[in-house]
Amino acid sequence: MIVLGIETSCDETAAAVLDGGRKILSSVVASQDDVHGPYGGVVPELASRRHLEVVVPVIRRALREAGTGLTDLDGIAVTQGPGLVGSLLVGCSAAKAIAWAHGTPLVGVNHLEGHIYSALLEERAPEHPFLALVVSGGHTALYVVEAPRSYARVGQTRDDAAGEAFDKVAKLLGLGYPGGPAIERAARGGNAKAIRFPTASMSDGAPDFSFSGIKTAVSLHVRRAGPLSPEQVADVAASFQATVVKTLVRKSLRAGQRLGIRRLVLTGGVAANTALREALSAECGERGWELFIPSRALCTDNAAMIAAAGHDRLVAGERAPLTMNADPSLALA
Ligand code: KG4
Ligand code: ZN
Repeated sequence: MIVLGIETSCDETAAAVLDGGRKILSSVVASQDDVHGPYGGVVPELASRRHLEVVVPVIRRALREAGTGLTDLDGIAVTQGPGLVGSLLVGCSAAKAIAWAHGTPLVGVNHLEGHIYSALLEERAPEHPFLALVVSGGHTALYVVEAPRSYARVGQTRDDAAGEAFDKVAKLLGLGYPGGPAIERAARGGNAKAIRFPTASMSDGAPDFSFSGIKTAVSLHVRRAGPLSPEQVADVAASFQATVVKTLVRKSLRAGQRLGIRRLVLTGGVAANTALREALSAECGERGWELFIPSRALCTDNAAMIAAAGHDRLVAGERAPLTMNADPSLALA
């Protein structure tokens, strides 16, 4: 089954063609960093406008690289939510137009399910059940994936997402956008033990996350310390990154321990972070747990993961009507 995936939930316009739901024939990602960089964050109106400009060329390129035409498609999978409504609408409208014109089966995919599916696109894929830590710019949550397409959320952020914290701290440090890669680069030359930033633990013991406290702590530190030298910026970046990594690793391991699930998937944009990948690998290695981290290109937003998730839903007989609409707060579980 040849499936076209379309992803426009935030600030990447992406299209991919997959064969059998796992073989990537093409995966095109058009970043909008040039549009949002000057503002230090995603400007929703500009995001949807850029999606509108590039969605057709991006789809065309994905089809060309895969050597397929619109009439060869057995299905179309599009991100329905969660995300920015104006951005989602562009992808959904494009998908519906193709489905209507060619009578192609259509399915809506939850963006977070897509992120989890990125682990299934690697040669070494996890068996069920597994615990998935999804860490992105908009979400930070832990899911138990009991069986295919069966999700239960066991923890989530109570305020900011981890990626959001990276982006905001990068802005505070004048490191530019997107913040995650910028912090990672700056942290390389810094001392991760230079500053002690707070880690949040929930008074009710829930495996939930909170990143607004550390963001405020960094802001206070920067204000108190005055203009920072490049060395001081590196120390703040390294200390911040180490604290976030420690929290994410500790809470995931604790949840796995409590649930008796020793198989972890790490995914989402923040999973591109080397310090996080290495820390979780080390801890899982020590415990003999299985760990699955998709390649960086599959961790950050892409349409291959959407096509993979959509493929399985199409095979299961799911179809979206042409009245299907973008849902900015679509829940996974
Ligand atoms: O999954 P994603 O591409 O988009 C959303 O669904 O949100 O995640 C984007 C987020 C941004 O906040 C970005 O700063 C963060 O992932 N990110 C990183 C790294 N690369 C991207 N955070 C930390 N380290 C990285 N290397
Ligand atoms: Zn994402």
